[in-house]
Amino acid sequence: MTTECPVHAGFDPLSPAFLADPFAVLSSLPRNVPVFYALSIDYYVVTRYADIETVFLNPETSSAATAQLPLARLVPEAAQTLLAGGHKPQPSMVSLDPPAHARLRSPTARAFTPRRVAEMEPKIRRTVDQLLDAVDASAPFDLVSMLTFPLPATITFSFVGIPERDWAQLKQWCGHRAALAWGRPSPEEQVDHAKNMAAYRGYLRALVAKKVNAREDDFASALLEIHDENPEELTHDEIGSILYSLTFAGHETTNYLIGNVVRRLLEDPARWDLVVSNPGLIPGAVLETLRYDPSVPAWRRVTKRPVILGGVNLLEGAKLFLWLAASGRDATVFPEPEKFDMRRTNAAKTLAFGKGIHYCVGAALGKLEAQIAVEILAHRFPRLRLVNEQQLSFHPNISFRGPQALWVRAERTVGSMSEPKVNVGQS
Ligand code: HEM
Repeated sequence: MTTECPVHAGFDPLSPAFLADPFAVLSSLPRNVPVFYALSIDYYVVTRYADIETVFLNPETSSAATAQLPLARLVPEAAQTLLAGGHKPQPSMVSLDPPAHARLRSPTARAFTPRRVAEMEPKIRRTVDQLLDAVDASAPFDLVSMLTFPLPATITFSFVGIPERDWAQLKQWCGHRAALAWGRPSPEEQVDHAKNMAAYRGYLRALVAKKVNAREDDFASALLEIHDENPEELTHDEIGSILYSLTFAGHETTNYLIGNVVRRLLEDPARWDLVVSNPGLIPGAVLETLRYDPSVPAWRRVTKRPVILGGVNLLEGAKLFLWLAASGRDATVFPEPEKFDMRRTNAAKTLAFGKGIHYCVGAALGKLEAQIAVEILAHRFPRLRLVNEQQLSFHPNISFRGPQALWVRAERTVGSMSEPKVNVGQS
């Protein structure tokens, strides 16, 4: 049986209440409404695991064209600035459909070898150690600025082959990109973001040109080797586009993942203590966090033909907000979904990395970074605790979520008989 789609006038994933606690909004929704129309963003919100999985697995019925479409309609000046800067309406791999998608995905997968990921392990360990060496553990410190933000930037940019002197600039450009595509910027902000994105793309084109005659053992050079085999199959422009994907996708996703893992472990000190005494639980803790509180909580698609989804009739062109965070709380897949369980046997079923042809290229790298970060943190700071009563804040966008700052202290308060649970105020 199919029904007309219910409309939710109040649902706004950019409202302060949603940004602070999306899970409270989720639990306030009627459970028997798997798909509803959200007026605030002009998207159909899909909440059930099975429906989201169906969308991911059927690129012939749903296009990825909306994956990084600016959520707010662009003012003409911003749109023109982007086009003039070589930024196409479908700017990179994650929003392309077959067969165009494979042109970029195949060489990416070839160059993103398990060997190259495994070889990053010593570099990740060294970087975590160096970052933590700089911490003054005698006072509370912000784990985001000291560790979770700089780590993935360092790893991704060195993996790709970006010279270190440009990292700070790249990080800024990534911030502009997140705000333009996944936030709700004002017209003036849009123009500023667009100028920065044009500069970002120009930089990557120049980098590819420079690397042609200055190869190193990095991902960009590996793509140039593939280009040399058959220049028609992978152009320099396409290599620039792949670098545009990687430099962004490997950064905030992983920063927020690590922040979410540490937050969820410290939220109940018993979890942290368990991980300290049994580091073998860390991979499970990372997976469980991806299910319970994913760093990419929503992803987008658009229907290519009329479909029935969650019992609802949708027309061609219906824009879909795939609520990945809600799919992790689907009790038909994950029993007792509100329980954070590091030993959950099927947490790996999480849709946090997508599924199907666009499945995250960097999933193994992102998980490795998070595991090593937590492992070393637990080893060096076995008494780590959250600073009490801090108000967490989250960047105003729909697709990347993790604490902007996470204040911790390294030592237990002297004299406390039992550790109180920390009220961080938000979920
Ligand atoms: C660790 C946290 C990460 C999360 C939660 C995450 C999540 C995602 C999601 C949801 C997608 C879209 C999947 C789809 O449309 O079906 C995606 C795609 C992608 N991710 Fe990740 N990602 C993470 C880390 C990384 C890293 C570290 C890299 C690379 C260094 C990366 C590179 C990519 C690329 C290139 C795509 C596009 C793949 C395609 O379109 O074929 N990601 N990721």
